[in-house]
Amino acid sequence: MTAGTDARDSSSIGVFDSGVGGLTVLRALRERLPGESLIYLGDTARLPYGTKSPRVVARYAENAARVLVERGVKMLVIACNTATAEALPHLERVFAPLPVVGVVEPGAEAACEASRNGHILVVATEGTVKSGAYARAIRSRRPGAVVRSAACSLFVALAEEGWVDGPIVESVVRRYLAPVVREDPSVDCMVLGCTHFPVLRDAIARVVGPGITLVDSAMTTARVVADRLRSRGMLAPPVNAAALELMATDARARFARVGAVFLGATISESQVEIVDL
Ligand code: DGL
Repeated sequence: MTAGTDARDSSSIGVFDSGVGGLTVLRALRERLPGESLIYLGDTARLPYGTKSPRVVARYAENAARVLVERGVKMLVIACNTATAEALPHLERVFAPLPVVGVVEPGAEAACEASRNGHILVVATEGTVKSGAYARAIRSRRPGAVVRSAACSLFVALAEEGWVDGPIVESVVRRYLAPVVREDPSVDCMVLGCTHFPVLRDAIARVVGPGITLVDSAMTTARVVADRLRSRGMLAPPVNAAALELMATDARARFARVGAVFLGATISESQVEIVDL
């Protein structure tokens, strides 16, 4: 198919994540681009990606992306920070010339827009922090930026359990973040560099206080996707019956229950197709 044809324009955008967290990105895409059809795959059988080695994450991400590519998507959105940090160039190479958008560059852009003094804290999974991808993306936009990072692995488990507030959550958040904020009291912006962290936003905000602006990459990623589609003449036709397909690699009921928290809308189990990679 050629960019600009009707067939290509109305095909879906493929979005994948290691689980349900990327549904926050899907939600932002639906708000920004209501006429676009979307196919989402959550690799729930292999979650978490954040504690695995880059080689394994790249392999899982390639397999997940392939399911979407085989369904004829016009663009691939990696809604997982860890997979973006560790596998974006790999996926661009494997699936070229398909456009691939990750969440790290948009998240870095949001941080640089929000921070006044350039002291930025990135909270993410172990894999994302180790990759240094956010620090590089932030410094390429703002060379003098002071970037600190903290791996907060337990946040993923809390969010998956639906524990997003209350004393236990606050105590875990405090344990991870209080020392880092103490180390650099000038931090004025924190990037929630993991799909799961936006649902813990209120608890995090209470612990770090009002002086730190929290940003995540969902809205900025949707903006980048819209710009990229527009510049390539690949937006859906003005009147398009936008479809939403949801797939997971395991645990349909859990995907529907926990996914609803991230999507901000009810998901029925019958909507979720189970696929094998
Ligand atoms: N989706 C992952 C991310 O954004 C978080 C969950 C996981 O570790 O797989 O980094």
